[in-house]
Amino acid sequence: MNPLRGEKVRLRPLVEGDVPILRAIHARPEVAAWWGPVPRDFPADDPNATRFAIVLDERVVGLTQFTEESDPDYRHAWIDIFLDPEHHNQGLGADAIRTLVGHLIADGGHHRVTIDPATDNAAAIRCYEKAGFRPVGVTRLAWRDAAGRWRDALLMELVEPPDEADEADEAS
Ligand SMILES: CC(C)(COP(=O)(O)OP(=O)(O)OC[C@H]1O[C@@H](n2cnc3c(N)ncnc32)[C@H](O)[C@@H]1OP(=O)(O)O)[C@@H](O)C(=O)NCCC(=O)NCCS
Repeated sequence: MNPLRGEKVRLRPLVEGDVPILRAIHARPEVAAWWGPVPRDFPADDPNATRFAIVLDERVVGLTQFTEESDPDYRHAWIDIFLDPEHHNQGLGADAIRTLVGHLIADGGHHRVTIDPATDNAAAIRCYEKAGFRPVGVTRLAWRDAAGRWRDALLMELVEPPDEADEADEAS
């Protein structure tokens, strides 16, 4: 597929040469705090996720991904992201998320996208708000951190109501 173009970053499917840099970024403490230790097979460890390299000026600076609900009556996608800490707080995360969500809506036919940062991941929550996500509520003890502690997450969603005429055609 062609790269997805944001204002600052490009998203493109992963290639073999991305593996060392993505593993190195994942292992940075600022990323591992939320993504956990690097799985042995990463980035091939989650066959259900569609993953993209985040590219800035021809350099891979992070990863973003989506996963889709397969039941058509509950159709939505959920996403995730990490960026090299050297590039945090420069608007790249919001740009990458907007670009991925634009693709899911325009090309994937999605009308609802969710993400669930930890309640104390303030930078991620702010980043997703900038990209158009709104908080739904706190899901309690929803994820376990590397220390084995269950922690709360904030479910956030971005909803673009579908054209009801198109939906009726599809359902019939
Ligand atoms: C989450 C992440 C992708 C955001 O990327 P980013 O490029 O830094 O995001 P942006 O620059 O677009 O936005 C970050 C916002 O958070 C703000 N922010 C940063 N630290 C903050 C803090 N401690 N408290 C409140 N706001 C904070 C920034 O000021 C910025 O907001 P602003 O543009 O209004 O000033 C990045 O921080 C990251 O990779 N973190 C580690 C992995 C991770 O947490 N992944 C998400 C798991 S759900």
